Amino acid sequence: MTRWTADQLPTVTGTTVVITGATGGIGLVTARELARAGATVVLAARNVDKAHQAVADMRGDFVVRQLDVADLDSVRAFARSYTGDIDILINNAGVMDIPAARTAQGLDVQTATNYFGPFLLTNLLLPRLTDRVVTVSSQLHRFGKLHLDDLDWRSHKYSGLAVYESSKLAVVLFSLELQRRLTAAGSTVRSIVAHPGIARTGLVSHSPLGFINRVPIFVQNAEQGALPLLYAATQDVPGNAYVGPDGLFSFTGYPLVRKPSRAGQNPAVAKRLWRATAALVDIGA
Ligand SMILES: NC(=O)c1ccc[n+]([C@@H]2O[C@H](COP(=O)([O-])OP(=O)(O)OC[C@H]3O[C@@H](n4cnc5c(N)ncnc54)[C@H](OP(=O)(O)O)[C@@H]3O)[C@@H](O)[C@H]2O)c1
Repeated sequence: MTRWTADQLPTVTGTTVVITGATGGIGLVTARELARAGATVVLAARNVDKAHQAVADMRGDFVVRQLDVADLDSVRAFARSYTGDIDILINNAGVMDIPAARTAQGLDVQTATNYFGPFLLTNLLLPRLTDRVVTVSSQLHRFGKLHLDDLDWRSHKYSGLAVYESSKLAVVLFSLELQRRLTAAGSTVRSIVAHPGIARTGLVSHSPLGFINRVPIFVQNAEQGALPLLYAATQDVPGNAYVGPDGLFSFTGYPLVRKPSRAGQNPAVAKRLWRATAALVDIGA
């Protein structure tokens, strides 16, 4: 089996990549490697100082822009002020297992960060997109339960982990419906899902799940965790591919096109989810 690594990245000079959540973890490695391969990388960060610091010692063409992906006004402002084409949009920013909280618009923060924000951002930037959108999910989407009548966790009991799992299932279904719409419209733009397996990052450092970062096996570093994103962003994979590590349970390893859960492959649910989300974030369905 070919073990694809970042050394096999093609030259992508002239390509513009917008990536969310690249101040640390998997996103920062992805940004660094794409810049090393020649891309102009736009870091869309909620903390612009942190983003500037993160790339200060890196070689490459970086642009830092303000974007709090959980705040739909910030998403709209980012999209409004963006000029020029985007070849690759990488929806990477995410939070996991955080306490219940509401955004400025009154939405659940975890769902807004992982799903509502990326949904709106992608839709608003779509007219500028020339190649593909990569959205980051998780193997935990396999445990996700969607409440189509309560996407914003108002009537169901909030659990940090259950909300994370649900948001990551939502992005898998989002990609499915987005790809269907792109294909139906005759677009060559692709929607792809990537997941990093399990990687040591800041994602769960605040939560009881932080013990994962101390487990010596079945956990990889952020360099390895970024490979599925880099593969999804640059390799010739089919629309709506689900790219993740090739190892046992897809926890670790090298990028491979795999399959999401059966629930993540349901086109009827994906359509209903799209319509419900479009209404919630106030764009046309
Ligand atoms: N690590 C894993 O094992 C694993 C497994 C499956 C999926 N994932 C997914 O991989 C992606 C990257 O996570 P990671 O592991 O690299 O975690 P991380 O180290 O915690 O990085 C998360 C990034 O998202 C940013 N972010 C969070 N909320 C944001 C917001 N509202 N607006 C803009 N940026 C925001 C953070 O910015 P700040 O610096 O401002 O906090 C940070 O740059 C996430 O989507 C995560 O769900 C990770």
